[in-house]
Amino acid sequence: MNTSVLKYRSQAVAKPYFIAALGLFTAQILFGLGLGLQYLVGDFLFPYIPFNVARMVHTNLLIVWLLFGFMGSAYYLVPEEAETELHSPKLALALFWIFLVAGALTIVGYLTVPYARLAELTGNDLLQTMGREFLEQPLPTKLGIVVVALGFLFNISMTVLKGRKTSISLVLLMGLWGLALMFLFSFVNPHNLVRDKMYWWFVVHLWVEGVWELILGALLAYVLIRTTGVDREVIDKWLYVIIAFALMTGILGTGHHFYFIGLPGYWQWIGSIFSALEPIPFFMMTVFAFNMVQRRRREHPNQAAVLWAVGTSVMGFLGAGLWGFIHTLSPVNYYTHGTQVTAAHGHLAFYGAYVLVVITMISYAMPTLRGRLAAPRAAQTCEMWSFWLMTISMGVMVLALTGAGILQVWLQRLPESGAMGFMSTQDQLRVFYWIRLAGGVGFLGGLITYLASFFITGDECEPVNAGETGATPARA
Ligand code: HEM
Ligand code: HEM
Ligand SMILES: [Fe+2]
Repeated sequence: MNTSVLKYRSQAVAKPYFIAALGLFTAQILFGLGLGLQYLVGDFLFPYIPFNVARMVHTNLLIVWLLFGFMGSAYYLVPEEAETELHSPKLALALFWIFLVAGALTIVGYLTVPYARLAELTGNDLLQTMGREFLEQPLPTKLGIVVVALGFLFNISMTVLKGRKTSISLVLLMGLWGLALMFLFSFVNPHNLVRDKMYWWFVVHLWVEGVWELILGALLAYVLIRTTGVDREVIDKWLYVIIAFALMTGILGTGHHFYFIGLPGYWQWIGSIFSALEPIPFFMMTVFAFNMVQRRRREHPNQAAVLWAVGTSVMGFLGAGLWGFIHTLSPVNYYTHGTQVTAAHGHLAFYGAYVLVVITMISYAMPTLRGRLAAPRAAQTCEMWSFWLMTISMGVMVLALTGAGILQVWLQRLPESGAMGFMSTQDQLRVFYWIRLAGGVGFLGGLITYLASFFITGDECEPVNAGETGATPARA
C-alpha cells in the first residue's frame, strides 16, 4: 500500500474502520427502507423481519457505524495532531476485529432469535439492561463495547500524552472519554419507570447534545485547519467557545426530556430555558465554518471535503438547532411528544451533525490513506453530487415527516374532545409516508453515488495557491 502522503504510518489503521463504517451505513439504510415500506404495507417481510426488529437493527447499526467512524477519525487525527506514531497500531487493529465480530453477532442475534429468548440466552437475568431504545444490546455486547472503548481510549490517550497536546486532540479526547463514561448509565436500569427513563436520557441526550458535540467540534476544526490553512489560534478560539456553549446549554437542557416522565415540575422551566439555548453552539458552528472558508489561505485540492464540512455545519444547525427548537418548549412538547415531529428531528439531527461529520472525515482522510492528497477531479464531482442527493433526499423525508407530525397533532392531540384514535390518524398520514419512502429511495441513490466515487479514477487535482485563483487572501 502506498501511504507516502500520510504523515504517520500508524494513521493507516483508520482505513478498515472507515470501510466498516460505510458498509454498516449501507445496511442501516436498507433496513430504513424496509421500515418505511412496513409503514405502508404492514406485513412486508412478516414474520421474518417484523417492524420492531428492523427498527432495532436500523438504529443500532446507526450508532455502531458512527462509533466506527469516530474511532477511525481519532486514530487518523491523533497521531498527526500529537506529531507521533499511535501508541499501539496492533491494539487498534485487534479492537477493530473484536468490535466488528461482536457487532455482527449482535445483529445476527436480533434477526434470528426472538428478543425475549435472546435476553434469556445472554444473561439478562443477571443484570437487566435490555429492552430500551438504542440500548437493546445483550449484556455481553454491552460489556464488549466497554472493553473496546477502554482499549481505544487507552491507545489514543497514551498517544496524546507522549506527543504534542493541541486543543483539537484534547477536546476530542474529552468527548470520547465522555462518550464511554455516559454509556455506563446503560447498565443502570431501575424498576422505577421514572428513574429508568431518566438514566436512559443520561446516555441518549448527554451523548448527542453533550459529549458528541465535542467530538463534532474537534473533527470539524481539524478538517477546516487542514483544508483552509487558517491559523490554529483562530480555530482554537472558536472551538473553545463552541464547546463551552454546548456544555452550558446541553447539560441542563436534558430537562426537555423530563417534562412528562414524572419528575418535579421545575423541569418544565429548566428544560425549556436551557434547551432553547442549545441551538446557539450549532449556529456558531455554521458561522465558524463559513468564516474559516472565507479566510482561507489556500485552495486545498480536496474541495469535496470542504463541501462536506460546510454541509455538516449547516445541516447540523437545521436538524439539531431548528428542528430541535420547534418542539423543545414544554407547552409545545406537550402536544408533539412522541409524534412524527420527533422522528423528523431525529433523522435530520443525526444526519446533519453526526453522519455528515463522519463522512467529512472519511472524505478528507480516505484519499491520503490510498496514497494521494485528494481524490481525482471526477471522483470529487461525483462526491459532490452524492452530497446534494443525500441531503435533498433527507430534506424530502424530513419535510414529509414534519407534515405528518403536524397533521397527527391536529387530529389526535389538539382536540379537547372527539380526538381521532392513533390508528385512524395513521391512516390519514399515508400520503406523507409515501413521500418519506420516496425520499428514502433517493437517499439510497445518493449513498450509492458516494460509494461509487471511490472507484472513479482520473487526473489528480493539483494544489493551487490562493493568489492564482483569486481567492480571498488570508486576513490577519
Ligand atoms: C445533533 C444533535 C441531536 C440529535 C442527534 C438529536 C436526536 C434526537 C432523537 C433521535 C430524538 C428521539 C429520541 C426518542 O424518543 O427516541 C430526540 C428527541 C428530542 N430532541 Fe433531539 N437531537 C439533537 C439535538 C437537539 C437539540 C439541540 C434540541 C433542542 C433545541 C433537541 C430537542 C429534542 C426534543 C425536545 C426531543 C424530545 C421529543 C419528544 O418529546 O418526543 N434535540 N432528539
Ligand atoms: C442517514 C440516514 C438515517 C438516519 C440518521 C436515521 C436515523 C433514525 C433514527 C435516529 C431513528 C429513531 C427515531 C426516533 O425514535 O425518533 C430512526 C427510525 C426510523 N427510520 Fe431512520 N434514519 C436514516 C435513514 C432512514 C431511511 C432512508 C428510512 C426509510 C425511508 C428511514 C426510516 C425510518 C423509520 C420508518 C424509522 C422508525 C420510526 C418509528 O418508529 O416510527 N430511516 N431512523
Ligand atoms: Fe435532548
